[in-house]
Amino acid sequence: MQLSRFPRRYYTSGVTPLQMLPRLSAALGGPTIYVKRDDLLGLVAGGSKTRKLEFLMAEALSLRADTIITAGGVQSNHCRLTLSAATIEGLHKRIVLKEHIPGSYSSTGGGNNLLYRLLEPEQITVVDGNANTDDVMIGIAEEVTAAGGNPYIVPSGGSNALGTLGYARCADEISEQSRALGVSVDHVICASGSGGTQAGLVVGFAEQGSRTAVTGINVSDAHDTQRARVLALARDASSLAGGSYPVTEDMITVRDDFVGAGYSLPTSSMSEALTLFAQLEGVLLDPVYTGKAAAGLVGMIRDGTLRSAKSVVFVHTGGTPALFSYGEAALTG
Ligand SMILES: Cc1ncc(COP(=O)(O)O)c(C=O)c1O
Repeated sequence: MQLSRFPRRYYTSGVTPLQMLPRLSAALGGPTIYVKRDDLLGLVAGGSKTRKLEFLMAEALSLRADTIITAGGVQSNHCRLTLSAATIEGLHKRIVLKEHIPGSYSSTGGGNNLLYRLLEPEQITVVDGNANTDDVMIGIAEEVTAAGGNPYIVPSGGSNALGTLGYARCADEISEQSRALGVSVDHVICASGSGGTQAGLVVGFAEQGSRTAVTGINVSDAHDTQRARVLALARDASSLAGGSYPVTEDMITVRDDFVGAGYSLPTSSMSEALTLFAQLEGVLLDPVYTGKAAAGLVGMIRDGTLRSAKSVVFVHTGGTPALFSYGEAALTG
């Protein structure tokens, strides 16, 4: 698989740290835990979507797009980072926000809502939780075209085959860094939402012929839906990049026992994980994605899933701006 043949924009200088978490590892009494600090990727306030956007924005520019359109939840990190990338590229920008909880978007709200205001898209369209955001984005793209513009739709979460390649690159980075540390990584754990992060990691490790297992901690949909989504994305990404190793079903592991009552709703295990990371390691997580994924990591150590693992990597996919919109609920579940 030759990722270098895909045009790419560069929004991060160097690579993100692979950092050992000694106090957390000792407190949990399981494998040595490392964190891949993708919260420190470039673009406004960092996070996983930056890796996907490096490929997607390169495609948008090659198609001479002048307007970027994307969609996400009310506190979407993906929309914030896409606005940031479009700003850097000097493009117009429009976003669609889906209200999973009615009335949850506020133009004067905190967290990512505040950052949207600062990054100032030409248009914010708020739709209800049942809306099909793909259809809404297509409608906006038609308006842009009718007005003489050239729109480019970045898929929700940046998760199509091209965006997913960003995380195949990340798997290479993790392997290079762990080799340099003399560490063999048994297991990688990440949040799984639109699925591109997990799918890309699976493809990347498969291409290396690596035995590193990847588990996605589901933050929204039911187990079977999420597993099918990640498998399809991984296969699409592998075929786009001319992968040499087939992605098989056994490579896709999804846990949906840490999501709680639903997407973005706090849980007590999320609050516990958030507190452990902050108090033991000075690392901030968020209540929607990384807090639940870290709850998965803690749960997998406690339930014995990681019994035979010596070293695990937790991928910190960012999202901390959302923490500041949760207040007390982030700490009390
Ligand atoms: C902070 C953060 N972590 C993880 C995810 C999930 O990643 P993916 O959509 O690639 O599954 C997202 C998606 O929006 C996110 O914002």
